Amino acid sequence: MNKMPDINDHVTWFRNSAPYIHAHRGKTVVVLFGGEAVEQESFHHLINDIALLGSLGVRLVLVHGARPQIERQLETLNIKSKFFEGLRITTPEAILGVEQAVGQVRMTIESQLSMGLPNTPMADASVSVVSGNFVTAQPYGIREGIDYCQTGNVRKVDADAIKQQLDHGKLVLASPIGYSPTGEIFNLRAEDVATDIAIALHADKLIFVMETIGVINGDGRPLQQLNLPQAEQWFKQHGKANARLSEEDARDTQSHLDNAAHACRGGVRRVHLVSRNIDGSLLLELYTRDGVGTLVTADNYEGLRLATIRDIGGILELITPLEEQGALVKRSREQLELDIHNFTVIERDGMIVACAALFCFDIEKACELACLAVHPDYQEHGRGNELMQHIEWQARKQHMEQMFTLTTQTMHWFLERGFSEADPDELPMEKQALYNYQRNSKVLRKQLG
Ligand SMILES: CC(C)(COP(=O)(O)OP(=O)(O)OC[C@H]1O[C@@H](n2cnc3c(N)ncnc32)[C@H](O)[C@@H]1OP(=O)(O)O)[C@@H](O)C(=O)NCCC(=O)NCCS
Repeated sequence: MNKMPDINDHVTWFRNSAPYIHAHRGKTVVVLFGGEAVEQESFHHLINDIALLGSLGVRLVLVHGARPQIERQLETLNIKSKFFEGLRITTPEAILGVEQAVGQVRMTIESQLSMGLPNTPMADASVSVVSGNFVTAQPYGIREGIDYCQTGNVRKVDADAIKQQLDHGKLVLASPIGYSPTGEIFNLRAEDVATDIAIALHADKLIFVMETIGVINGDGRPLQQLNLPQAEQWFKQHGKANARLSEEDARDTQSHLDNAAHACRGGVRRVHLVSRNIDGSLLLELYTRDGVGTLVTADNYEGLRLATIRDIGGILELITPLEEQGALVKRSREQLELDIHNFTVIERDGMIVACAALFCFDIEKACELACLAVHPDYQEHGRGNELMQHIEWQARKQHMEQMFTLTTQTMHWFLERGFSEADPDELPMEKQALYNYQRNSKVLRKQLG
């Protein structure tokens, strides 16, 4: 007998993904994958996942590599490439093979993105792909006496042209090829193309889908997060972890980390290194709490700051379930918009994971700590405490002498943090008028002065 799929698991999984779906909608993400990925039977999984990201409102630029295909094409043409420092010298004869191989890879990707058979994950996906002369190249030049011929560097990215396509709902596909104003064609490193496009677009994310297992720690497990200085120093400081990788994989990982650091220095806030060998790694990285790869960030992954009008959606996402449970008083979107400057939030990788608000009543020199909420996945790690202390600090700065809070379910939490019980008629006058006797919240007070 067929086992019924567990519908509850599915619903829970979908609901848990919701905050990430909201957080990534409308964001610009550059995804790089190598030519190796295109050759694998499982490539259609990656393509399906990419199409799904597009359907979920992510603005996508794909950059593909073509190393194995170029290698094979040059063999067919009886051309043996020379490499220096890992970089191919592209002679005038070789560039023809590069063009053929890159063109073929591009067509394979375009054809896969065009699939839409019923009963497949691509049914009704209708992905519209655009490629073009978005990247201007220049010769890598002559270095240490070696002429790299038609191996090039990215000179400029036409960010406006790419943005225009993204604004029209197109998926942009870029190849490791660039054109010069003199009309020449240059062979580029796909990693550099992806990095420079991400920098030029001020992309929200750059994702390297790697052939290796990625950056690993001493136990051989993927490392979750590195800040910029750590990413820059990783290979110098963690030789032991690298020793688990083959020489080629270590070189590849180091080069991706160097590109990640470069992207961060150029203003890309988050670079993800994920392994292609995990099925669904792109989706898992973006739509689950901890992801499966390594995140390199230019700034703190998590930060506390004052809220802005752009945080309304994220705050509502966080507090609505708590309002429904009766833990927080209901606030309309309009009220939240009016009060947004009273709010402080903790943002983690683009998602609001905690918030609190401060309302001051100057006549009584009293204030209210309101709407303190931490997302259930992120509770019990001191965030509630951190926010409360920050609100207290704000209140002291405004010369408040006492702080009130109203709670229905968290009384002990506040009692353990220096609050004591008070009567509703001790609240500031303006707040008393709003006190909801039906809700019967406990009034708690803390002396600040
Ligand atoms: C209350 C709340 C903000 C705490 O956030 P948090 O980040 O988990 O808090 P912290 O990590 O700083 O504190 C965790 C401690 O509080 C305790 N705690 C959590 N909820 C509690 C509650 N309802 N009553 C008493 N203690 C509680 C935990 O057991 C933990 O104790 P420990 O330090 O002894 O292990 C969070 O649980 C929340 O959002 N609750 C729902 C909204 C709410 O009720 N807000 C208050 C009304 S304004």
